[in-house]
Amino acid sequence: MYDTIINGNSIFEMSKLEAESIDLIFADPPYYMRTEGVLNRVEGTKFNGCNDDWDKFDSLEDYENFTSQWLSQCKRILKPNGSIWVIGSMQCIYTIGALMQKLGFWFINDVVWHKTNPTPNFMGSRLNNSHETLIWAVKNKNSKLTFHYKTAKELNSENDVKKQMGSVWNFPVCSGNERLKDSDGNKLHNTQKPLKMLERIIAISSNIGDLVLDPFAGTMTTGAAAKKLGRKFIMIEADKKYCEYGKLRLDSIQFEDSNIARAEFDKKPLRVTMPEMISAGFFKVGEWFLFKDGRKIAQLSADGKLSFNGKIIDMHTCAASAKGLKAKRINGFDVWYVIRDNQLVSISSIRENFREKLNLS
Ligand SMILES: C[S@@+](CC[C@H](N)C(=O)[O-])C[C@H]1O[C@@H](n2cnc3c(N)ncnc32)[C@H](O)[C@@H]1O
Repeated sequence: MYDTIINGNSIFEMSKLEAESIDLIFADPPYYMRTEGVLNRVEGTKFNGCNDDWDKFDSLEDYENFTSQWLSQCKRILKPNGSIWVIGSMQCIYTIGALMQKLGFWFINDVVWHKTNPTPNFMGSRLNNSHETLIWAVKNKNSKLTFHYKTAKELNSENDVKKQMGSVWNFPVCSGNERLKDSDGNKLHNTQKPLKMLERIIAISSNIGDLVLDPFAGTMTTGAAAKKLGRKFIMIEADKKYCEYGKLRLDSIQFEDSNIARAEFDKKPLRVTMPEMISAGFFKVGEWFLFKDGRKIAQLSADGKLSFNGKIIDMHTCAASAKGLKAKRINGFDVWYVIRDNQLVSISSIRENFREKLNLS
C-alpha cells in the first residue's frame, strides 16, 4: 500500500503497517504548546498561532505517553537502514529527543530551521522564537545511513560555489501562494511546513522509489515533496478536512525528474581495470606513460602495471616513486598522460571515454 492518504489516528494506523517496510519517516507531531488566553498583535488583532485541539494534552505525562507510542510504532515499521526526521519547537523537542534515545534511535544530526521571517514576540517580553529543531536519527547504532553528500552540496550552492551542507537551514515560514487556503480564503493549517525544507530532507536522505511516511501529515507537505522527487508515500492525518485539501494538493503534483531526485551526483562511477581498457583497445601494451610536462617515465605492461627502472609496479605506486614522494602511492589517474594524435591526453579522460562506451552498450 502506497501513494495514499489515511484519515485516522497515526498510532493505530501505523500499528496496521508491516514491520520494517518504510524507508524514511518525517514527523511533525503536536507541539503541546500549552498556550493560554488570546495572543494579540501589536495593533490589537488576534494572532492565530498553534492553539488547535489536536495540540492539547492533559499533562506532560499524557504527552510523553502519546510520544512514546507513536515513536515505538515508527521504530517498528522503519527498515533496518531507514531513517527518521522529527521536527519540534522548544516545548516538545527535548521530550521527543529523550524518548527517541530511550527507544534506541541513533542520532545523526540535529538541524536548526532558522525562520527567516519569524513571528515577532508581540509583547517584547522575551526573545522571538525564530527557529525550530529537527532531529535526524537512524533506527539503531548499526543502521547504514542513506545520505547523499554531494546532492546536499548541490542544494547548498551559492553563485556556483558548492559548500558542504551545515546544520543551520534558512527557510521562510510558509506565506503567500505557498500557504494553503480553505474555501473561505482563510489559512488552512496553522503549522504548514515549507515545501523546500521537505524536498531537501527527502532528497538527501532517501532514494528515488523509496517509501516515505508522515504520521502527522497536515497539509501533506511531505507527500508533495515525496511525489515531486519520485518517492512513494503514506500520509496519515487525523483531521478529515486536512485530508481532503491534502488530496487536492497531491493530485496537482507531478514527478519532476532531475539529477537531484536521482542523486546522480552521489553515484559511484563504474569500476574499470587497466587490462579491460587494454583489451578494448583504449591503451597499447608498451606505450609510454608521461608526466604532464611531457617527460616519458614508464611503459605499460600487459597486466596493466608499469615498467619503471627495471621493475614492474602498479601505476599508483609508480607515480609516487617517480615523483620522489614520501607517500607510497598516489592516484595514478591524476598523474599519468599518454600521447594521442601527437597530443598529451590524461589517462583519466581516456577512462571516462571507456566508461561512457560501457554505459552506452
Ligand atoms: C504540526 S501539524 C503537521 C503539519 C504538516 N507538517 C504540514 O506541513 O502541513 C500536526 C498534524 O497532526 C495531526 N494529528 C494530531 N494528532 C494526530 C494523531 N494522533 N494521528 C494523526 N494525526 C494527528 C493534526 O491534525 C495536525 O494536522
